[in-house]
Amino acid sequence: MKSKKEKNELYLVNLTSDGSLLITRKSSGAIVFQTELSRLVYSDQFLQISSYTASKYLYGFGEHKEGILKSFNWNRLTLFNQGDLPVPNRNLYGTHPFYLVVEPGGNTNGVFLFNSNAMDALLQPTPAITLRSIGGILDLFIMLGPTPTDVVKQYTSIVGRTFMPPYWSLGFHICKYGYFSLNKTIEVLERNLAADIPIDVQWHDIDFMHRNLDFTYDPVDFKGLPEFVEKLHNDGRHYVAMISPGVSDVEEPNTYAPYDEGKKLDLFVKDVNGSYIHGKVWNTNYTVFPDFSNPKTPPYWAKQFDVYHLKLHYDGIWIDMNEPLNFLNGSDVGCPDSPLEDPQYLPGRPYPLRTLTLCMTAKHLKTEHYNEHNLLAYREAHATYNAIRDVRKKRPFIISRATFSGQGQWSGHWSGDITSNWEDMRYTIPSMLMFNFYGMSMIGSDICGFRLNVTEDLCARWQSLGAFYPFSRNHNDFDTFEQDPAAWGPDVIDATKNSLRTRYYLLPYLYTLFYKSHIFGETVIRPLFFEFPDDANTYSIDEEFLWGPSLMILPILYENAVKVDAYFPKGVWYDFYSGKSMKSKGEKFTLEANITHINVAVRGGAILPLQLPGKTTVESRTNAFDLLIALDENNAATGELYWDDGDSLDTYENENYNLISFSAKDNVTTTKVLKNKYISIMDLNEVKIFGIDTIKSATINNESVPSYSNSNYWIVNATGFSLLDELTISWT
Ligand code: NOJ
Repeated sequence: MKSKKEKNELYLVNLTSDGSLLITRKSSGAIVFQTELSRLVYSDQFLQISSYTASKYLYGFGEHKEGILKSFNWNRLTLFNQGDLPVPNRNLYGTHPFYLVVEPGGNTNGVFLFNSNAMDALLQPTPAITLRSIGGILDLFIMLGPTPTDVVKQYTSIVGRTFMPPYWSLGFHICKYGYFSLNKTIEVLERNLAADIPIDVQWHDIDFMHRNLDFTYDPVDFKGLPEFVEKLHNDGRHYVAMISPGVSDVEEPNTYAPYDEGKKLDLFVKDVNGSYIHGKVWNTNYTVFPDFSNPKTPPYWAKQFDVYHLKLHYDGIWIDMNEPLNFLNGSDVGCPDSPLEDPQYLPGRPYPLRTLTLCMTAKHLKTEHYNEHNLLAYREAHATYNAIRDVRKKRPFIISRATFSGQGQWSGHWSGDITSNWEDMRYTIPSMLMFNFYGMSMIGSDICGFRLNVTEDLCARWQSLGAFYPFSRNHNDFDTFEQDPAAWGPDVIDATKNSLRTRYYLLPYLYTLFYKSHIFGETVIRPLFFEFPDDANTYSIDEEFLWGPSLMILPILYENAVKVDAYFPKGVWYDFYSGKSMKSKGEKFTLEANITHINVAVRGGAILPLQLPGKTTVESRTNAFDLLIALDENNAATGELYWDDGDSLDTYENENYNLISFSAKDNVTTTKVLKNKYISIMDLNEVKIFGIDTIKSATINNESVPSYSNSNYWIVNATGFSLLDELTISWT
């Protein structure tokens, strides 16, 4: 076959009669995919295809506990959802068979293997990759970018993009496994509020349920929970409740609708003989699993949420244990002999696939668990999303432990049961970055760690870092110290307050990033190489990260450290707090950070919309806005603000929003109202300008306004003006 020569295509394809397939980038000749089809294996339980990669700069193919850059030293990456602790070199909770490769010269391509069976990717030093799945078909999508952001946009155009989060979910969340009572919950919440910690969302873990039954709450120890939730709502706060994917099957008939109704509809997963397969999760006895692939299940699931909401006005739902994790291997009676139970090729660990999950021979409506396993959480998240959207008529907020490609449409994710140590805190950054590659922008980790006791210093540093997780929640295990911010002394409390105040101040910028993620598929947080793909120094950096294109977060990640040696790609950068500038040629700067401080830098060329922080996002949203103009070397900057009511469904689709663009050049900044459909007050407070020496006088729409210096930057007073009017802000 001859190469295609159409003008607009970025690639050339060459397929020879002996089966050599070569896809190259037209502009550079870089290899995008190169394989010998004669060596492709396509058999019943073993499919394999290999390709050279353009370089060793390969990212993605998760979920694994590791840095962003993959090793090519005979590295085996297994994908098979499992609920055991995150440890390196082991498959974790999610499956995302998608990777990006930065080619020599900085262009980026992406490959997605649309296959949901257990699989391995083998990275070999050549460099080459072998994709090896034990089922399904080989369905490959190849993306040409050319930028990393373009690749993610292309990928998410295939699998689906991040849901638009409710604004409240961008606030700070608190949780613990093991409050064990409403009184304790109230005590913890109250002490944090008394310490002036902004809190938007209270969570409850499994221990709030009645005998660990889904869709219940403990009527004794959590008596008064609905009233507590009403109080949260009245105070501008929100509430998230936990649900596990399995239901108890040993309740008295007619006492537990989730089982009775599921049985009536015959929608639980079955064993080879057609009986319901019994696992053991939190229930006192056995657990059965709704088959989310059965079309009867989503309406059944929705009904449970509907009835539950009559009792308890939850706002968001936490779907846990949905790999699914089973405390038994397979079932209460084991699993039958079958090539599905013991395939000849076993990806990953040397344990049968059924280890701590269901039998691979278990029957879903259309196929065996062997083929459905990695999809269970995806389907559960989808059903839960539709269910709570229909109940609340507002934006769903769901956090899921297990995930699959495209699940970002329905849920976010957190990195599961990490340990309270420095290594695991460091891992939370690559975890977030990689889930942003996968189109799951609502991602975070248990701040201060889940397992074992955290130290005060680590918790202070972790609270500072966690204030910059897209999903910011402190959560830990039942048998550990209480680690909510107010459980500590002034170091943790002040670190939390300082960093959360910064987060809340930045929320309009963060929210605009989520809009861009939802609509265009951009990442909310991203590694430096996404913005600087020509700078090879950035390719392995994952101890600092960016919010969107313009804000760099530089946390302290090592015990006893009080300084961070931070790499700044070429350009002008400013300290977010002081406006002090750093002109970088692509070099490291040493920044100090005492225990209550986290360094944050703004990239020259950005205009960030900010809003004075309140104690909740509801309160923040009533405050005035600031604009931060950070000029680049050419005295220019641009930015954007997306603003809607933060909770209604489909505001973008219904055009019920405001969109304002900002542009600065030399000593004039103009704002343009591109859309003005959400009726609201958007008063301005002040405009901060980074990168100018002095202002003699300033005007807004030709009216003289006061301006003054704040050591490294200038402030133009903008009170009395609104972002809903087109403004020309000038200074001399
Ligand atoms: C496992 C989850 O990963 C963890 O966060 C939770 O606390 C426990 N399940 C108990 O529900």
